[in-house]
Amino acid sequence: MIYLDNAATSFHKPPEVANAVYQALQGLGNCGRGAHGAALDASRQVHKTRVAIANLFNVGDPSRVVFTQNATEGLNIAIQGLLKFGDHCITTALEHNGVLRPLYLMEQRGVSLTVVPADKTGCIAVADIEAAVCAETKAVVLTHASNVTGNVLDIERVGKVCKQHGLLFILDASQTAGLLPVDMKKIGLSALCCSGHKSLLGPQGTGVLCLAEGVQPEPLKVGGTGVDSFSPAMPLVLPAALEAGTLNIHGLVGLLAACEYLNKYGQLRIFQEATERAIRFVEGVKALPGVTLYGDFAAMVRTPVVALNLRDIDSGEIADELFERFGIATRAGAHCAPGVHRLFGTVEQGMVRFSFSHFNSNNEVDEAIRALRILEEES
Ligand code: ALA
Repeated sequence: MIYLDNAATSFHKPPEVANAVYQALQGLGNCGRGAHGAALDASRQVHKTRVAIANLFNVGDPSRVVFTQNATEGLNIAIQGLLKFGDHCITTALEHNGVLRPLYLMEQRGVSLTVVPADKTGCIAVADIEAAVCAETKAVVLTHASNVTGNVLDIERVGKVCKQHGLLFILDASQTAGLLPVDMKKIGLSALCCSGHKSLLGPQGTGVLCLAEGVQPEPLKVGGTGVDSFSPAMPLVLPAALEAGTLNIHGLVGLLAACEYLNKYGQLRIFQEATERAIRFVEGVKALPGVTLYGDFAAMVRTPVVALNLRDIDSGEIADELFERFGIATRAGAHCAPGVHRLFGTVEQGMVRFSFSHFNSNNEVDEAIRALRILEEES
């Protein structure tokens, strides 16, 4: 199989990640739940993972790194736990349902919402975000990069707008964490949410919610934490306040190995190599007469994601052909991002998304180009 669905989840993981999970499965107890060797080892490993994530995103205090099941859980904690009746919130037309659905839920609880539209290449103007700010605005919640087009938002400028107007800035970094640098302090993020299994290269079932000093959402779930057992309420201290129940410790040990790999191999090198594959693919398919590409390909920075359609053929049909005949894995359909498809008029057709990793070879890219050329000729 040629795996070109890395925006859904990275498939090729560094061998260190699998080894770390395997070792963890054989040797760890429960973190924060005992004083014997296996429990202490688990606590140490989880703490090391917190430190690695805090360093990766310049969070500062590692206790402000909260582990979640996935990016969606982190986004739900941040959005549901920080917004209240009467607040106004700004988001964009590019969002994944991981952002949109919690925001729509909050609309039902009396939060008002402005969805900033994108231009015809799927770009968001920061000026439009600032223009939407009103007296009730509490937060800006947006993605760092579209999971469909690969367009990257200028989060440094959004951060300045948020700082100037005293707004919370909640970032969904699911599509960029591990690929592009995200510096919480420099950008002025209030909360950073991402999954561990995409470009961070860790296992599924791991996610991260990093919180700035002074930002503490209400918990979404309550339960055992290993501390304050006689208190009917959750402890206030982070990260326990937001981590009810046993963590995915085996997965987090894998995430630690993934962070170590990112540091060793180099995030910039990973980004550049994946980008080279994406550019090679675009150069190979853009001139095919039946192909429509979606997104801003003139941008200086974009993620290694290329969404396209072949004439008016259903995207699912093309993705099936690519897999059944050529062994190429892509993702078709709506990608949980309804606004992007409304913008490009692809609600019915969807798009075929090719998303690259530095683990992909040029030969794999060339095979994808060849397959698309054949399908185009046949169509
Ligand atoms: N959000 C993931 C994607 O874009 C699953 O495919």
